[in-house]
Amino acid sequence: MEERKGRRIIMFPLPFTGHFNPMIELAGIFHHRGFSITIIHTSFNLPDLSRHPHFTFQTITHIKEGEEDPLSQSETSSGKDLVVLIGLLKQCYAEPFRQSLAAEVGVGGETVCCLVSDALWGRSTEVVAQEIGVHRLVLRTGAAVSFCVYTAFPLLMDKGYLPIQDSRLDELVTELPPLKVKDLPVTVMKEPEDLYRLLNDMLEGARLSSGVIWNTFEDLERVSLLDCNSKLQVPFFPIGPFHKYSDDLPPKTKNKDDDEITDWLNKQEPQSVVYASFGSLAAIDEKEFIEIALGLKNSKRPFLWVVRQCMVRGTEWLESLPYGFLENIGQTGKIVKWVNQLEVLAHPAVGAFWTHCGWNSTLESICEGVPMICTPCFSDQHLNARYIADVWRVGMVLERSKMERKEIEKVITSVMMEKGDGLRERCLKLKERANFSLSKDGSSSKYLDKLVSHVLSFDS
Ligand code: UDX
Repeated sequence: MEERKGRRIIMFPLPFTGHFNPMIELAGIFHHRGFSITIIHTSFNLPDLSRHPHFTFQTITHIKEGEEDPLSQSETSSGKDLVVLIGLLKQCYAEPFRQSLAAEVGVGGETVCCLVSDALWGRSTEVVAQEIGVHRLVLRTGAAVSFCVYTAFPLLMDKGYLPIQDSRLDELVTELPPLKVKDLPVTVMKEPEDLYRLLNDMLEGARLSSGVIWNTFEDLERVSLLDCNSKLQVPFFPIGPFHKYSDDLPPKTKNKDDDEITDWLNKQEPQSVVYASFGSLAAIDEKEFIEIALGLKNSKRPFLWVVRQCMVRGTEWLESLPYGFLENIGQTGKIVKWVNQLEVLAHPAVGAFWTHCGWNSTLESICEGVPMICTPCFSDQHLNARYIADVWRVGMVLERSKMERKEIEKVITSVMMEKGDGLRERCLKLKERANFSLSKDGSSSKYLDKLVSHVLSFDS
């Protein structure tokens, strides 16, 4: 680790797991390069701060005494809900963020080099940074390709693809092959104005920034990165995959459940386990839950399935499982509320990842060479799935509308049996390319050096 240089970076993550995780990983990367880190975090969805002892946290709160919490009723189980919630978060935390940043910059001692804020916080964080006199970098936690698609929204509207019409779902978007209309990140939106506003603000905020940091690597998304760069015209730093720098970073604390899961995985044959998880936000209904349960059981393969509390609408946890299900599966299947996903995907027993295709899960699977079964639920997940299946060719799509026990069994069998179509080989090759990007001569390492010089140039 490099010596601390008396320089500090302030970070402002969006308070959701899929955004917080990459921001904290980026914090670790900067910390390893000698910077101190302060994280301004909302009181909404405050994580367990004891897990990150190397960083200073400043919690900002949005609740005024005697007033009702405007965020208390918010649901986040679909893209539409999420757009509304992010809009509310931006409103509620604008002023607390401004005050916190001003106080941090005014503290004295270490020089504050810059602010790194999640792209979705938008333009207002740039306005505040300018007012206070700090440079602002943007972290984009999703794929470059999703950002490209967002920049193409005006064109897609012009050409009549947006708003989406049900009759055109299977049509190819000829301007953005191989995406189909149903892959566009708006499918749950019948009235997409809120989404358009949110995305415009994100794009404008990125254009005004001092640079964009991407959790992706050049070899994976070269064309999309160039496209984004030509549209944004600011320095860009694809330094991902962030989580793979973790060998250098402080170890994460483990809990008893993690050990139990590892013990169970240790007892399974190599590449025999189907790991199923739909990320941190997506919800499913009871009918889907039962089909997944029976599909997994009927596939006759060991499975590790993450069912978050309240993930099945209208239930607490597992109460709608078919009668006797848990007794029937015995030790061949394991259902848990959460896992250490990085460890699970890296375990040799895991043979496939049935995923919702959130960007973090996608990258994490690519990095371990694990083939994916893709069941996207909302927003960018659909286009991530298309790229996984048709561009990188490291997975198969099982559409949510076809998530029925027989289909599930069929797709699990195809991915696990690997009928000589080279799926597993392609996964391993892509894993190697991800690893190479982080090696001394790899693109991500070089971009990281550039990023550090860029940040240091701000206070010279
Ligand atoms: C959200 C959006 O839904 C997605 O479209 C966007 O790309 C990112 O933000 P999320 O559901 O959080 O996605 O999924 P993902 O991006 O995959 O992030 C989930 C994170 O939680 C991953 O880093 C994963 O490792 C972690 N995780 C998930 C666990 O550690 N344990 C689990 O049991 C499940």
